Parts: sequence; structure tokens; C-alpha cells
Amino acid sequence: MCPTPFRAPIRVSDFFSYRGDELHAEEVAVSRIATAVGTPFYIYSAAAFTDQYRRFAEAFSRERPLICYAVKANSNLAVLRLFAGLGAGADVVSQGELRRALAAGVPSHRILFSGIGKTRAELEAALDAQIHQINVESVPEGPGRAGRDPGQSGRRRAHPRQNFDRHERE
Ligand SMILES: Cc1ncc(COP(=O)(O)O)c(C=O)c1O
Repeated sequence: MCPTPFRAPIRVSDFFSYRGDELHAEEVAVSRIATAVGTPFYIYSAAAFTDQYRRFAEAFSRERPLICYAVKANSNLAVLRLFAGLGAGADVVSQGELRRALAAGVPSHRILFSGIGKTRAELEAALDAQIHQINVESVPEGPGRAGRDPGQSGRRRAHPRQNFDRHERE
């Protein structure tokens, strides 16, 4: 049985709602934002992200996992900073995403690198940054591509995790 009691899903309308004819994002009228920044624009709710993250973390709290936000979902620095502040790590799939995660304040020991086509330069950068884990997901990414064993990243180890179990990726 699931140890976590079921809770109703979060609804978008909890954070984006009409008050009369006026759409609001949390407490702010969207028309005010449009006037301030011009259109088109993207709008996110920090309260919604925070609520979702806390509920997710709470559901797994007994296992005390490392929860990594998939940077490719939205690599906006303000969004990354928000999740970093909540204690999330980052799951990156490129050197650019690695840089953004570090710039947003995600500690390197909470970063893991996924993806099937990491270049030598990307593996080098991941080792230099001493991230927590490199998921080796294709044969060419194995020991040697980075010019050194991914298990030996200077002062601290990056954990290579082999991930070709379900797919033969080359
Ligand atoms: C950001 C990200 N990380 C990791 C993975 C790989 O997940 P898994 O280890 O379950 O194959 C994916 C797969 O789509 C992904 O998009």
C-alpha cells in the first residue's frame, strides 16, 4: 500500500484564476504584467512550483532521495534558482544546461548529467565541475571519451551510472 495518503492534484486554477473578468497570476492581474513588460511573455507561478515540489518531496521523504529538476523542462534562470532554493538538484543533458544550473546556484554535488550523446568536452566539463553523477547512456560515452575514467574526477568521484539496460543505444 502506498504510505503517502492521496491528495487531490493541484489545479492550475489554484494559481491562475479569474476575478471578475480579470485573469490573475497568484495575486497579480495579468493585464498589469502585460503593461509592464509588453506582450507576448511567459508567466510562471513560483507558488505553484513550490507547492508541487514540496508535495513531491514530502511523498518521498522517507527515502530521502536526491530530487533533480530536469533543466530541459524549463531552463529559465529564475525558475532554476527557485528550485535550487527549495533544495532540488538538477538533471542536465548538455554543457549549456550544466552551466545554467551552476549559475543558478545548484551545488555541483546535486547535479547529474543524463543524455545519450555527451561529447568529450561535455564529459570533461562535468568532471571538472565535480558533479554528483554522470549517467553513461551510450557505448561511446564509456571510459576513455573524456580522456580519463569518469570515476576519477580529481578530488571527488563522479558516479558513473551505466544506463543501457533498457535500450541498446550507440
Ligand atoms: C532530463 C532527463 N533525464 C534522464 C532521462 C532518462 O531517464 P531514465 O534513467 O529513466 O531512462 C530522461 C529521459 O527522457 C530525461 O529526459
